[in-house]
Amino acid sequence: MIIFILFICFSSTFGYFTIPGKCPDNVGLQEDFKLADFYGKWYQAYHFSSDGQVKNNCSTIELMTRPSGIYLNQSRVDRGLFHRFSVGKVDIPSKIEDAANLDLIFAFKNAPRRLKTRRYPFRVLATNYNYYATIYTCQYSPLIDKHFIYVWILSRNQILNDVSKELAVKPLQNIGIQPTQLVKDERDKCAPKYYEDVPVEPMTFRFPVPI
Ligand SMILES: *[C@@H]1O[C@H](CO)[C@@H](O)[C@H](O)[C@H]1NC(C)=O
Ligand SMILES: *[C@@H]1O[C@H](CO)[C@@H](O)[C@H](O)[C@H]1NC(C)=O
Repeated sequence: MIIFILFICFSSTFGYFTIPGKCPDNVGLQEDFKLADFYGKWYQAYHFSSDGQVKNNCSTIELMTRPSGIYLNQSRVDRGLFHRFSVGKVDIPSKIEDAANLDLIFAFKNAPRRLKTRRYPFRVLATNYNYYATIYTCQYSPLIDKHFIYVWILSRNQILNDVSKELAVKPLQNIGIQPTQLVKDERDKCAPKYYEDVPVEPMTFRFPVPI
């Protein structure tokens, strides 16, 4: 029975990991990244999800300071109906030269013990703080030797101007993504019917089955 349930879990997560091999390495990150200048609201202007899933509109992200550290709030409208958000703790690298090499840690209170905290890379590829930011994450599943990539093209304004977009998509060549593969986010209906005020699971990461 347990084997059977595991099998179902495994096969549903397999679909997320579609790109063969490990995550790209030696990806160039933003030099001298200053987290303090990253505060304030960012609109997700475009995104790329390597499994092709599009589940929300109106995504924004914003850093928050709490007594226990710095957190990132990802909010969005799911399926045109639910306003939801996810909050992850930002793990700040200890070395200044690694400043753009961030991780996000999410806590899942009700998950089995070894799945309670999940850490995902959140790498700043480029930003000028005032107009655009390009961020990427990658998860690798050793079980099937494939990986998943999600890219945020963020904008300080609801619409990203052409010059900023060009700068924002430049680093994507390092991770093998074409600008034409980006999906533009819709922002015309961002006042959905339901508002949920408890954090939920983030939609931008895929959890590889641990082995
Ligand atoms: C996260 O951001 C959304 C949208 O700005 C906001 O409605 C929500 O209250 C924020 N969550 C927290 C915990 O601050
Ligand atoms: C985006 O918003 C439109 C309009 O509300 C909605 O019909 C559509 O389902 C939304 N798409 C997603 C993926 O949520």
